[in-house]
Amino acid sequence: MPDADAFLSVENLKKHFVKRDLFGREVQRLRAVDGVSFEVGRGEALGIVGESGCGKTTTAMMIMRLIEPTSGRVRLDGRDLTGLTGEQLRAVRPRFQMVFQDPGAALDPRMTVYDALEEPFRIQRKRATPDVIEGLMHRVGLDGEHLERFAHELSGGQKQRLVIARALAMEPALLVLDEPTSSLDVNVQAQILNLLGNLRRQMGLTYVLISHNLGVVRHVADRVAVMYLGRIVEVGPVGAVFASPLHPYTRALFSAIPSVRGGGERIVLEGDVPNPLRVPSGCRFRTRCPHSSPECSIGEPELTDRGNGHFVACSFA
Ligand SMILES: Nc1ncnc2c1ncn2[C@@H]1O[C@H](COP(=O)(O)OP(=O)(O)O)[C@@H](O)[C@H]1O
Ligand SMILES: [Mg+2]
Repeated sequence: MPDADAFLSVENLKKHFVKRDLFGREVQRLRAVDGVSFEVGRGEALGIVGESGCGKTTTAMMIMRLIEPTSGRVRLDGRDLTGLTGEQLRAVRPRFQMVFQDPGAALDPRMTVYDALEEPFRIQRKRATPDVIEGLMHRVGLDGEHLERFAHELSGGQKQRLVIARALAMEPALLVLDEPTSSLDVNVQAQILNLLGNLRRQMGLTYVLISHNLGVVRHVADRVAVMYLGRIVEVGPVGAVFASPLHPYTRALFSAIPSVRGGGERIVLEGDVPNPLRVPSGCRFRTRCPHSSPECSIGEPELTDRGNGHFVACSFA
């Protein structure tokens, strides 16, 4: 799939959490992310969905260089982020920012809104004029009257607006949003999703939006990638994947949500997601797949194009 025009390009990214004994011998290998590749065009929003524990946050943290990959590469605008160190990394950091699920944890409750907005400038040794700070507030729908409030006095939605404003302070090109609305009430979720949509249009931002909520991804993203046990099993335009999911896992996942399922039947998978300490050989979904056959234990299926950029990692889908 490599695409020369990709703005963000993730190549065969892996994160194995390895436990060793006193002698440095490996005793355990947890395959949290196990060979993930995707590309995101400039100004595009890619959604990543999948059940809890499938490796979404670990993927996000590797893109952000908040944890080091076991192997693989991340390129932003043609530049290999994986190899950067120290000062080089600090210099490009403003270009990509992450927004986490819990805005309360991302803010120092004793800071005022003003301080919280000024902090990213201070870290980059830049000066923020009051105009710039007010501009940021307006961008995310906070009023001037909030400036002297303490972060802990804000509502959940206002906190997340503040976190987003901080992420925008250094004029990033890429936002990695990890469950950005999962901690919020439903009506507040919709407001924040609309804000994210508007900001993307106005500022030409590129998004990687992670959510276990299919509705959120359908609302915001252009393309969607479905993860299972550390791998992407299906990726394509939101319209195509939601209208005709091809991978048996995607079908089951989507069929669990009445608004996504439409008139179809609910597909209930047997068993639980396998432990990432013991990933099945061959196709890692085969132990739960309603269509699995002996061939499925042989090789790990690669993502292949079924037309119009709709890729599936299943030999029989
Ligand atoms: N620091 C860590 N050490 C060991 N295992 C981890 C660590 N972080 C995450 N994991 C494991 O990696 C897997 C993927 O986790 P995560 O990326 O948080 O999934 P998701 O965000 O999709 O819920 C899980 O099995 C989780 O327990
Ligand atoms: Mg997560």
